[in-house]
Amino acid sequence: MIAMNYGPASKYYDLFASRDDINFYKELAVDHGRKALELGVGTGRVAIELAKAGVTIWGIDNSKYMLNVARQKLRKENPSVRKRVVLKLGDMRNFKLKETFPVAYVASSTFEHCITEGDQRKCLASAYNALQRKGMLAFDISQPTNEKSVNSWWIDRKESSKEEEVVRTIFSRRNPKTNIVSVNLFFDVYHKGIMKKRFYEYGEARLFSKETVEKILEKVGFKVDKVYGNFDKSEYSQKSEKVIFLVTKP
Ligand SMILES: C[S@@+](CC[C@H](N)C(=O)[O-])C[C@H]1O[C@@H](n2cnc3c(N)ncnc32)[C@H](O)[C@@H]1O
Repeated sequence: MIAMNYGPASKYYDLFASRDDINFYKELAVDHGRKALELGVGTGRVAIELAKAGVTIWGIDNSKYMLNVARQKLRKENPSVRKRVVLKLGDMRNFKLKETFPVAYVASSTFEHCITEGDQRKCLASAYNALQRKGMLAFDISQPTNEKSVNSWWIDRKESSKEEEVVRTIFSRRNPKTNIVSVNLFFDVYHKGIMKKRFYEYGEARLFSKETVEKILEKVGFKVDKVYGNFDKSEYSQKSEKVIFLVTKP
């Protein structure tokens, strides 16, 4: 099964990413041991902010393109931040690290790239093994409602420099039976208003209900402490946009 390829267009990932979640994950890591592991760390969008706040952060990702962007960003940081970040190429469903962590997290619905329940179980079990006793795992997924349209598309545009802008067009299609979402992304790069390059990426994600994920969490051995509906820590409800799990390894 294909997840998301996160190829050469990774260099434009941060341009379009939200920042709503950074304080949530930062607070968790700062309050619980200042050492954390991020699964699917990508460009280090969250991880580098944690390192700036004094957290030692390890991140694993299976896209060398995303990790290269993270490494380029780190080069611009001061040495004290740089030395707190450890990046590893690896699969979040099957990894082993020498270190264990008081906190692990999976941001930006990255967990939805686990397409099957088996993938989810393997990912959660790997996180479980990487945690210390009483360690905490946090991750967000989107709320899977059947009212969400089956086909959707959107376009946004960002300036990447004074002369360059990038237009991202997304076409996504959800299979209503499996809740697998197929996503086609085009990144058109314009220089002084003239289109110079097009990047195409394809990937898949799967929407799971809160109840399904809770069952898998329990099977793996986690205790569900809290489920939030947003990064402002509002209570989860069926109308929430997000499902944010905070779980503990007993
Ligand atoms: C939506 S991006 C999120 C990146 C980053 N966590 C953030 O919040 O900005 C998803 C990331 O997960 C990575 N990813 C997807 N499947 C993975 C897997 N099985 N193992 C490791 N990384 C994976 C992708 O390469 C990508 O960098």
